[in-house]
Amino acid sequence: MNAPIVSFNHVGKTFDVDGFELEAIREFNLDIAEGEFVAIVGSSGCGKSTLLRLLVGLDRQFRGQISVDGKAVTGIGGERGIVFQEHRLFPWLSVADNIGLGLVNEPLSAAQKHKRIHDFIELVGLGDFARAYPHQLSGGMAQRVAIARGLVASPRILLLDEPFGALDALTRQQMQDELLAIRARAKITTVLVTHDVEEAIFLADRVVVMEPRPGRIKQVVDIALPHPRHRSSFDFHQLREELLHELTSDGHYQPPVPVQVRDLPLSFIAY
Ligand SMILES: Nc1ncnc2c1ncn2[C@@H]1O[C@H](COP(=O)(O)OP(=O)(O)O)[C@@H](O)[C@H]1O
Ligand SMILES: [Mg+2]
Repeated sequence: MNAPIVSFNHVGKTFDVDGFELEAIREFNLDIAEGEFVAIVGSSGCGKSTLLRLLVGLDRQFRGQISVDGKAVTGIGGERGIVFQEHRLFPWLSVADNIGLGLVNEPLSAAQKHKRIHDFIELVGLGDFARAYPHQLSGGMAQRVAIARGLVASPRILLLDEPFGALDALTRQQMQDELLAIRARAKITTVLVTHDVEEAIFLADRVVVMEPRPGRIKQVVDIALPHPRHRSSFDFHQLREELLHELTSDGHYQPPVPVQVRDLPLSFIAY
């Protein structure tokens, strides 16, 4: 295998909660190849979001090492884009301006930024909505804006934290198809966090199954099915049973709690 683009080495994370130590992640080791699509599944609280925050560079207090292209992660960087579960759009900014936030740290002229933003609005199929505001969008459209914002700086690694969790089942499947189409056009390494086993099997090359308290890897499963994948096929069904069994066999699995899509509090400063 070529040198991995992302490498987690003996990564651990402990939070201090009211003077008590909460071990959120223990001994997480994973190499991700360039262009690979890795899904991380596990019940609520097993450290999935924490792992992505560490990889994107939003939290630098952890044990072990995380490297991207062989260099230790020390902060956020344009080669890593992230999309959160709640779309976190700013209600007072238009679609174009929300996407433009993904370019604030990029050394581009205003004209270059304008072109880039509009290319990505087209890419996610929102050509008629550049001037619309978040309250004028459906949940699926808002999530597409968030994906465009995650992609607009042309990251080589896209991190997705339960990006479709708040969408209805049909929109969710459409967004999964679109994500695969975007990836087919832009060869981008993708790390998707999800609690949805079916979503993981539909999209990923490899699925990392986590177990909670403390969050650690239980199993890594290769998904060797060719694309396009069919949710009703025998192989798909068998993998789903296998993964669900892994997730539930220790009795820890908690089914996901539905999340409300809501706007970002003013305090959010990552973009
Ligand atoms: N900022 C924080 N301070 C204290 N504890 C936290 C913080 N963020 C996450 N945790 C705890 O770490 C564990 C893992 O959380 P998280 O990564 O959000 O899990 P997941 O995304 O898998 O649901 C949970 O027990 C959670 O309560
Ligand atoms: Mg989470």
